[in-house]
Amino acid sequence: MGTERKRKVSLFDVVDDTSVSAKLGRAGINGGAAAAAANPSINRWNGRPYSARYFEILEKRRTLPVWQQKEDFLRVLRDNQTLILVGETGSGKTTQIPQFVLEAEGLSNRSMVACTQPRRVAAMSVSRRVAEEMDVTIGEEVGYSIRFEDCSSHKTVLKYLTDGMLLREAMADPLLERYKVIVLDEAHERTLATDVLFGLLKEVLKNRPDLKLVVMSATLEAEKFQGYFSSAPLMKVPGRLHPVEIFYTQEPERDYLEAAIRTVVQIHMCEPAGDILVFLTGEEEIEDACRKINKEVNNMGDQVGPVKVVPLYSTLPPAMQQKIFDPAPPPLREGGPAGRKIVVFNLKMCSTDFNSREYYVNIRKAMLSGYFMQVAHLERTGHYLTVKDNQVVHLHPSNCMDHKPEWVIYNEYVLTTRNFIRTVTDIRGEWLIDIAPQYYDLTNFPSCEAKRVLERLHNKRERERAANRS
Ligand SMILES: Nc1ncnc2c1ncn2[C@@H]1O[C@H](COP(=O)(O)OP(=O)(O)OP(=O)(O)O)[C@@H](O)[C@H]1O
Ligand SMILES: [Mg+2]
Repeated sequence: MGTERKRKVSLFDVVDDTSVSAKLGRAGINGGAAAAAANPSINRWNGRPYSARYFEILEKRRTLPVWQQKEDFLRVLRDNQTLILVGETGSGKTTQIPQFVLEAEGLSNRSMVACTQPRRVAAMSVSRRVAEEMDVTIGEEVGYSIRFEDCSSHKTVLKYLTDGMLLREAMADPLLERYKVIVLDEAHERTLATDVLFGLLKEVLKNRPDLKLVVMSATLEAEKFQGYFSSAPLMKVPGRLHPVEIFYTQEPERDYLEAAIRTVVQIHMCEPAGDILVFLTGEEEIEDACRKINKEVNNMGDQVGPVKVVPLYSTLPPAMQQKIFDPAPPPLREGGPAGRKIVVFNLKMCSTDFNSREYYVNIRKAMLSGYFMQVAHLERTGHYLTVKDNQVVHLHPSNCMDHKPEWVIYNEYVLTTRNFIRTVTDIRGEWLIDIAPQYYDLTNFPSCEAKRVLERLHNKRERERAANRS
């Protein structure tokens, strides 16, 4: 460890003050800071005058909910080594907080701040946005680092990187000495790399009293992080960026895609100007919806305003993804109904989280809805009988279960000396009636032991329902 530390220190020496300023010259970081201190229209990071665009974005940034708490945040950061910050999505955590950190007292102009992201695209796109907000060139003062691509330089003071990349850096630099503040973003996603970083950073913090950690999350699970980091203070950023009103359909929809399209068209016809976002589940569905919305609106002619329907999913080329920032189309004729932009994009598929007791139950139910015909029942004789075709099957010795459940679903037979089923999981008899009622219609089900068990379950449930009603 001793020699390792020595090596690190000498590596770090390469970028000491003198060599940096020598490389950057007078207009470099230090020169920029001095000029900026004297003149607020000079960018402290590169010594250049701010562009008009900078002030335009700044105006918008100031309306973000995290700006209400900027002073509080800086105070809590100054007084604590670790802090946890929770805020609604869009409140400005990822883009603003690392910039606030850069303004923190005690951080010299050369201290580097890292902000982790679970996804490569997020690291890239958010750093670009922040470079624009800080009016600097991407890859210089603000950069990003993802696997196979390091877009940062010796000037970089704020680096967005995937959590996996920070882990890699920690292998070569166990105390992460190049950073003064580490922001772990999207902590609620609990990716493997972020989880490992939690453990690692807890140790690093003990060894580096000068290092600070900010854990950011969009959910209130933050109490758990707080417990983990010895009761670090928790800051909650109240407020959504926009008011939200929720409407539900009265009845379950048979075809949610069709219902979504109908709703979009209805909003377009009846509601005042404003964009529409539609969340769907995949690329094909998104493209299909875009086509159908365009068709429906075109059929209405000039009764309604024109629409620009934009699909958005991760495999679209970046130039296509940028289209979501295009403005809505103008009215077809002067004084005509306003145009509207409609973005149809991918819903992040999110099931109950791992900590929930329901998590594995939900997974098994989801599998059953696909494999409801491949069910075997444990008979009193001790062997399994498939429900579909009354075949005797056996659990293969290498299956993953430690018990013999009454009901199992299986993937396929492994035919050796006997009929084996190997990829299996246990399910509950009641789920068969709930999930596949057409298939498990007991009125025309062949007589067998499984049917009698299902009938008993069915009757028991009916009795319970009747008791609840009365
Ligand atoms: N690339 C971009 N172009 C234009 N505006 C952007 C861009 N990225 C972010 N913004 C604006 O900045 C605001 C704050 O975004 P930010 O990503 O910091 O929020 P967040 O709190 O991290 O949200 P989340 O919990 O979803 O990660 C957004 O509401 C949006 O208005
Ligand atoms: Mg974010």
